Amino acid sequence: MSNSGEAELLHTFKGIPFTTRSSPELLKSLDTFDAREDDVLLVSYPKSGTHWLAGVITKLYTTQVTITSPIEFGDISRLEELNKLSSKRIIPTHLDYNMLPPNFKNKKCKMIYISRNPKDTAVSMFHYYRDNPNLPTVDTWTAFFDLFLKGNVVCGSWFDHFLSWAEHEDEKNILFLFYEDMKKDLPKVVKEITLFLSLNVSDNDIQDICKKSSFSEMKNDTEKENSDPSHTVCSLTSNRKLIFRKG
Ligand code: A3P
Repeated sequence: MSNSGEAELLHTFKGIPFTTRSSPELLKSLDTFDAREDDVLLVSYPKSGTHWLAGVITKLYTTQVTITSPIEFGDISRLEELNKLSSKRIIPTHLDYNMLPPNFKNKKCKMIYISRNPKDTAVSMFHYYRDNPNLPTVDTWTAFFDLFLKGNVVCGSWFDHFLSWAEHEDEKNILFLFYEDMKKDLPKVVKEITLFLSLNVSDNDIQDICKKSSFSEMKNDTEKENSDPSHTVCSLTSNRKLIFRKG
């Protein structure tokens, strides 16, 4: 993969590679994070449709909600910032289940896990590695695919990540979604999300939200919004233009 000069772009915490955008101090303190019962977590392995899901979910609320940057992004001061937020928090994360702050589990916060088939996830991540200066350089698809299979990529093994969450799929506070189902029938998945979050959204509004959440609409919005650099829900970049590739 990378030249040795790029080695400092990643560091390992509890066996999982993170970028330097997640400081070791922050990762160490996650265990003490103070969750609130009404927090909603958006969980994914990178490149699984996190921004798509986040775009849909924020449109479902009529009350004030804040979609925060990912809980593992930044330095230790992030936890204090999150603590200060007075509105309801929707918190994205790429953490695997074992690394999740225990408070979210103890308080039975609602969590939505979005997954995408590993082949498409790997292809998307390959392009992301090539375009994202926060990630090491990869020379070829073959070299990247080998790293992906071994879990030697940012956020670790897709398989370990998925399995760590899948073990909890029967828990009532966790909803499992698939990118492919969103592609096939977005209104159906959005309906499922509204039921899970106990939100009252009419079928007409759901149709409207789905239109506004199409790949082309979201990509266009991004072209307009990119002036706001903090507008990503991925701890690996603040550049939304890197997110909407092919869909
Ligand atoms: P591709 O690289 O295959 O195009 P994440 O948000 O987790 O980083 O995932 C990014 C992937 O989701 C990218 O996949 C991106 O194009 C795709 N995506 C983002 N918005 C989408 C949408 N509205 N509809 C379909 N795919 C979308």
